[in-house]
Amino acid sequence: MKIGLLGHGTVGQGVTQIIDAQSTPTTAGMQVTKILTRSPRKSSDSRFTTDPAEFFAANFDVLIECAGGIDGPLPLITTALEHQIPVVSANKKLVATHYLELTELARKHDVRFLFEATVGGGIPWLRNLALIKQTDEIEGVYGIFNGTTNYLLDQMEKHGKSFTQALKQAQEKGYAEADPSDDLAGNDVAYKCALSANLAWGTHLRPEEIPAWGLSNVRSEDIEWGRQNGLTLKFVGQAKRVGTKSISTVVIPVFTRPDNPLSHVGENYNCGVVESSYLGKSSYLAQGAGSLPTAFAIVQDLVDLQIHGTRLSQLAPPLVDEGLNALKLDNSGEAGRFYLRSSSPLVQRLQDEGLKIAKEKQEGLPAGAVITEEITVGKLREVTSKLNVEDLFTAKVD
Ligand SMILES: NC(=O)c1ccc[n+]([C@@H]2O[C@H](COP(=O)([O-])OP(=O)(O)OC[C@H]3O[C@@H](n4cnc5c(N)ncnc54)[C@H](OP(=O)(O)O)[C@@H]3O)[C@@H](O)[C@H]2O)c1
Repeated sequence: MKIGLLGHGTVGQGVTQIIDAQSTPTTAGMQVTKILTRSPRKSSDSRFTTDPAEFFAANFDVLIECAGGIDGPLPLITTALEHQIPVVSANKKLVATHYLELTELARKHDVRFLFEATVGGGIPWLRNLALIKQTDEIEGVYGIFNGTTNYLLDQMEKHGKSFTQALKQAQEKGYAEADPSDDLAGNDVAYKCALSANLAWGTHLRPEEIPAWGLSNVRSEDIEWGRQNGLTLKFVGQAKRVGTKSISTVVIPVFTRPDNPLSHVGENYNCGVVESSYLGKSSYLAQGAGSLPTAFAIVQDLVDLQIHGTRLSQLAPPLVDEGLNALKLDNSGEAGRFYLRSSSPLVQRLQDEGLKIAKEKQEGLPAGAVITEEITVGKLREVTSKLNVEDLFTAKVD
């Protein structure tokens, strides 16, 4: 199998490390023949090029995309699919944002488009969802899908680090990107929720539709309040099937109870949980990001192509996507109690918006924090956007 590799940063270097080592009979049958980067490399490795035409002239069998961003890689992925070259991508932002057009293009040209590395790092997550749904009805998927923010929360919780110290440490360890705003705002988790829902229910959710509350304003006093109440703060993405026509989905920090499997997930690990009718609850844990775990997931997709072929029409039923249903997003039934904290006075403004404050729960809360009575996610979104408070931290209380 000849491979064209688009991008040679953190993930791309992991891919060449695994494939060049040829350490298993399967990887020994793979060869990275050309590598496209933006800027020229000083390396004497003749595989490097910055010229897309020279890259495609190498006539590889598979394109791996680990460049990141959208505008650079999208035309190259499109060209590959149009020429019936299967594509493997790690780029969750690109795949989630252009899901419908890329899967339809792949269908039109009868070629496979795989993106296991986009969700859950080293966890065989999307492939597992595709297999589970062949036997069982998936009712919900949820989990910790961002290694950077899990590491950050874990450092604050277990080592008493401040938000700034924990973020700096995550960056030094290479978990957090130089600009971590997509991770902190919850956009990254929203891409992964959309992709998980798409695989679980054959739909095409747009990530920007998913209501997301981020972690930028979390502070030590929030973590401490959770600790004193036996709750661990985790950043959770979830999607649930509602009847036969809708999905509810939300991205939000959650104060989790000890019996929630997510509450024990530490370091930069990811944990995905599937709820399905026959199997019940099953959870999957692995390194959530980083060079080799992500490259591992990419190489697993190459193995899949070797085993099952590169044409969609060749696939045996377990891996066939049976087509996209237009399930609607409906969060009207998704409700909970929420913790809100800000330096601006909140109580009166929340009451003015018709929110009831759970008075008996207020004791021991940090200054400026309140806990609401049960409200829907829709109402929470409406109220928190109206508040327009810069340092508002919002979390669900399990
Ligand atoms: N890092 C992780 O742990 C992780 C985990 C899961 C998924 N991902 C996803 O994997 C992708 C890559 O992430 P990364 O961390 O490896 O990024 P990175 O370290 O910034 O590397 C990006 C690489 O792509 C090249 N590149 C970017 N735009 C290009 C273009 N238009 N044409 C040719 N080459 C281009 C860059 O070349 P130059 O060096 O010449 O600029 C660089 O070699 C992203 O979509 C990311 O979301 C990353």
